[in-house]
Amino acid sequence: MMESVFRPPARTLAGLAVTALAATALVAVATTTSATAATGLGQLAAAKGKYFGTALANNHLGESAYATVADREFNSVTPENEMKWDATEPSRGSFNYTGGDAIVSHAQAHGQSVRGHTLVWHSQLPSWVSNGGFNSSTLTSIMQNHISNVAGHYQGKLYAWDVVNEAFNDDGSRRQSVFQTTIGDSYIATAFQAARAADPSAKLYYNDYNIEGVNSKSTAVYNMVKAFKQQGVPIDGVGFQAHFILGQIPSDLQANLQRFADLGVDVALTEVDVRMQTPADSTKLATQSSNYNTLTKACLNVTRCVGITVWGVTDKYSWVPDVFSGYGAPLLFDDNYNSKPAYTGVSNAFGGTTSSPSPSASPSASPSASPSSSPGTGKACSATYALVNQWNTGFQSEVTVKNSGSAAISGWTVSWTFPNGQTITQLWNGTLSQSGANIAVKNASYNGALAANASTTFGFTGNWSGTNGIPSSVSCTGA
Ligand code: G3I
Repeated sequence: MMESVFRPPARTLAGLAVTALAATALVAVATTTSATAATGLGQLAAAKGKYFGTALANNHLGESAYATVADREFNSVTPENEMKWDATEPSRGSFNYTGGDAIVSHAQAHGQSVRGHTLVWHSQLPSWVSNGGFNSSTLTSIMQNHISNVAGHYQGKLYAWDVVNEAFNDDGSRRQSVFQTTIGDSYIATAFQAARAADPSAKLYYNDYNIEGVNSKSTAVYNMVKAFKQQGVPIDGVGFQAHFILGQIPSDLQANLQRFADLGVDVALTEVDVRMQTPADSTKLATQSSNYNTLTKACLNVTRCVGITVWGVTDKYSWVPDVFSGYGAPLLFDDNYNSKPAYTGVSNAFGGTTSSPSPSASPSASPSASPSSSPGTGKACSATYALVNQWNTGFQSEVTVKNSGSAAISGWTVSWTFPNGQTITQLWNGTLSQSGANIAVKNASYNGALAANASTTFGFTGNWSGTNGIPSSVSCTGA
């Protein structure tokens, strides 16, 4: 059983909700509460305020062992190919969301958040784009239209988007993609602006490989992100793909993640695998386990490292042997869905048990509950607090903020007092002020404006001890 850390669909261990309208305590709705022991890596990660995800391929979901392991172990998914340009806009202006929609509905049904991948990339780009001979202004419109349609289609359903993927060469120069050669350097900022307009609630990432350590390429990306932050280009995160070779995890991985985080962006390991020369043997598998342990700890040690995604459920379907001849076995589960020593390396880093799951273990059912809702009263805004999940000493909540008045508001602040000394460890889609038990959350820059009847959400993870009571009063004031 798992829970999602960020923007989770309704899959809960415990459901408790309280709604307040304009500064007064109103309704408390309680259903059953049941905390259970951690069983999957996603749940172990959530207890530390992170997510642990996998690339998911739609064409394998019909294989029951594949789906069982994916749903048991991971609380975040990234469509491996289904949201790329060749899948979503194979011919100009003709959009196809079949594969992506299937991944999103599978994820929603299993409490997994979704990282969208990817809007602008030189690869898996249809030839009508790469060989179209468009001028700069036409290609800019084509790119903006693609982003507007695809990110718009998934608006509100994705935790994050890899907006631009792999735009740099290893020496730090720009890759000479059709976007670079036709539009120039500015295409990346333009893509981020289009993505923010299409889905204001998705975290917007730049994603690349060979940027895990400090080197020419990562420094070029670092300088771009720094400039974007200074210029107000809407970037929220950097994805470090982390396609590693056995025994070659950069020693400065954590320091490099931290230097990006210090720019004011989230960081994530987005496509992790650790390939080895095949066949695997016990020595290589032990080294691989140690490597996975190291990279997991690097993320754990960086507050703004929000999570880790491995690039596939099983070695059987990894992209590695197709591209690197003689290499393979890079993931946590072998061809028969048996967990490998690498699984224990990750689990241990999260402080979990060292026992490995059996291939046939299925996720247990969990009760679910939705936040209660209240009709608008003409007041400026209302807030609904929902305890989404709790485990051991951690919990996750989501607050829905609704403009229940008849005029638009341009900002909001939600506040409450925790009854049992709970503390918030990480909050997203809002700005937190925490003073003892008193909490105030102000809108983020992108979700303050709410039209009449519009709503938005923010979420957080926190610590509790003894009792995890819900606040008796949650207030909302709108600007
Ligand atoms: O869909 C066609 C199918 O119709 C055809 O019969 C078959 C024949 O080979 O090919 C299928 O397309 C393949 C596609 O995956 C879907 O399975 C392509 O050949 C194959 O090249 C493609 O590989 C993907 C690769 O990106 C393409 O660049 C991998 O699955 C995917 O894991 C990999 O993922 C990338 C990330 O997106 C970005 N970072 C690097 C990472 C690894 O390359």
